[in-house]
Amino acid sequence: MDLLLISVFILAAIVAGLKIYTKLTLRTCKSQVCLVGKTAIVTGANCGIIGYETALDFAKRGAKVILACRNISKAQEARRKIIEETHNHKIFVRVIDLASFESVRAFAEEINKTEDRLDILVNNAGAVGLEHKRTVDGRPLLMQVNYFSSFLLTNLLLNLLKKSGPSRIVNVSSLGASMGSKLDVNNIDNFVPRFNDDYYHSKLCNVLFTIELAKKLQGTSVTTYSLHPGFVETEIFHNFHGIMKVLFMIIVKLFSMTCEEGAQTNIYCSVTQGIEKYSGEHFDHCRKVDRYKNATDPDLAKNLWKKSEELVGLTPEENPF
Ligand SMILES: NC(=O)c1ccc[n+]([C@@H]2O[C@H](COP(=O)([O-])OP(=O)(O)OC[C@H]3O[C@@H](n4cnc5c(N)ncnc54)[C@H](OP(=O)(O)O)[C@@H]3O)[C@@H](O)[C@H]2O)c1
Repeated sequence: MDLLLISVFILAAIVAGLKIYTKLTLRTCKSQVCLVGKTAIVTGANCGIIGYETALDFAKRGAKVILACRNISKAQEARRKIIEETHNHKIFVRVIDLASFESVRAFAEEINKTEDRLDILVNNAGAVGLEHKRTVDGRPLLMQVNYFSSFLLTNLLLNLLKKSGPSRIVNVSSLGASMGSKLDVNNIDNFVPRFNDDYYHSKLCNVLFTIELAKKLQGTSVTTYSLHPGFVETEIFHNFHGIMKVLFMIIVKLFSMTCEEGAQTNIYCSVTQGIEKYSGEHFDHCRKVDRYKNATDPDLAKNLWKKSEELVGLTPEENPF
């Protein structure tokens, strides 16, 4: 009995210690930058998740915020809550389903037609543990949702971003980008994932895309950053099944940050002045970090760009470069 009590006590002390460590090492975005007169788009900005907290922060700073979401009722609820909390009425909902290039193109067309400026684009929406199937466009579902659609959307909005400079593109990746098997760009469309390899690959693509995009944007007033938001308690782990789901839920409950805390690096990369010289770099805990080892090959980033243009069917008219 004593042994059991001691074991429980030690376990509780370890958990408490880790929780305290997580809180103590937490860094927040300290920037007071005002966004009045600016326009921001945040994909996946539904209630209670990282994207929502990012949009809420931009609204507090006075920006016009476009919540780019596939679930209209959840997005309308997010809009209502943001307006209620900030009294900023320039919050709008636009539909986008990242599993469909047609939807991405329709979204971008409407933005290009109706908005006279775009200062911040946060490619935040993402998923994990999706069924291994193909989209209507014939691409692997998870890869399209997490990467190809952000690639397409960014290209389609780039002229507006250029026109509005200084402007920023923030790509939400993950520490998972540094894990998984080797990325083979030539096989990216036919890759058969094991475990979460497709998630890791898609998140690595977010990082490589940012690196190549920054190169292409040199000499313009548009900058771009990739980031890991931290381990955050959101809905993202709900797609897991069985033991994986239980494990993740326990870990999340014990060690994760809140969504507000998890949005800090999104916000930091979107608004902090003086980080423009780090365009193309990767961020974590509101600071620039070294690139993951598997994201240091410039040829990989270049080849991925070429392959992505082909796989999203980017036409010469759509190509901003
Ligand atoms: N949470 C973490 O610990 C963690 C760690 C590392 C990286 N990240 C990254 O952080 C980003 C935000 O994730 P989160 O944790 O906030 O996840 P989440 O709670 O699951 O939110 C994801 C958002 O993406 C949207 N989304 C999913 N599929 C979509 C589609 N086909 N079209 C349009 N929107 C779609 C979701 O909309 P619905 O509500 O309609 O599903 C939701 O708004 C993701 O890119 C994720 O990879 C998260």
